[in-house]
Amino acid sequence: MDKILEQRIYAAARPYYTDQDPAHDWDHICRVCHFGRVLCREENADEAVVIPAAMFHDCVKLRVGHSPRDDSSRLSAEGAEEELLKIEGYPKEKITEVKLCIYEHSLALGIRPESLNSKVLQDADRLDSLGMVAIMRIFAHCGTWGGRGEGGRLFFWYDPFCENGREPDNKACGLDWVALRLSKIVPLLNTTTAKRLAMPLERNQNEFLARLRGEIGFFPSAEMQAMQEMQLPARVRNSLGAHPTPRGQLSDAISAQHPSIGADQPARK
Ligand SMILES: [Fe+2]
Repeated sequence: MDKILEQRIYAAARPYYTDQDPAHDWDHICRVCHFGRVLCREENADEAVVIPAAMFHDCVKLRVGHSPRDDSSRLSAEGAEEELLKIEGYPKEKITEVKLCIYEHSLALGIRPESLNSKVLQDADRLDSLGMVAIMRIFAHCGTWGGRGEGGRLFFWYDPFCENGREPDNKACGLDWVALRLSKIVPLLNTTTAKRLAMPLERNQNEFLARLRGEIGFFPSAEMQAMQEMQLPARVRNSLGAHPTPRGQLSDAISAQHPSIGADQPARK
């Protein structure tokens, strides 16, 4: 695509991302544009559709759980249309397809696109949801939403890999999200180029899960879980009072009741 035109689209899209969370910021857009360019070249897709669609695809990001689920994609598509109509030199006949690509890209909506350009945008976005970068994005997302009651826990001590009856819950913990995304995304990739590019990313992600399994194994999960759910005796609760308690004081109180457990230093096997 013509560089001057691309700069104009950049100038229109960039301001939308100043307040986005780290998983959907301008860096994510740059990576999706990179994957988009590679895929356009290999799959003969249209850069003049895919790159503007990549630049605007997350320009409106509503919080997880927002209803209806397609609002982020629909509003992003409308934002793209509004901006592209104003850009001098952008072929207006391509705007409808840019909007379609943006609307169809969302993993949450589960749409299987028919047009090549839409398949390429979906793949470009999903490649950034695989591998080590994807893991960083997921835990950044956990941190962003965690304080607002929508997850934020890293993993569940008592059944981190959902092997003892716990159902995976990506709204409650990041590790579930990593595992669910990995199993979900790879089979959904549309193009042979994306499937090839995904292989090393999938390997990295599997290796992360395997290494984490070894590391988590250091901690006695039953004891860690007991600490999470510990009920303080009434005598200790009363002594803490209604005011916020300094961390050391609470730790001392717990240690006094359970001398075998160091509240700040998890015991290792
Ligand atoms: Fe995205």
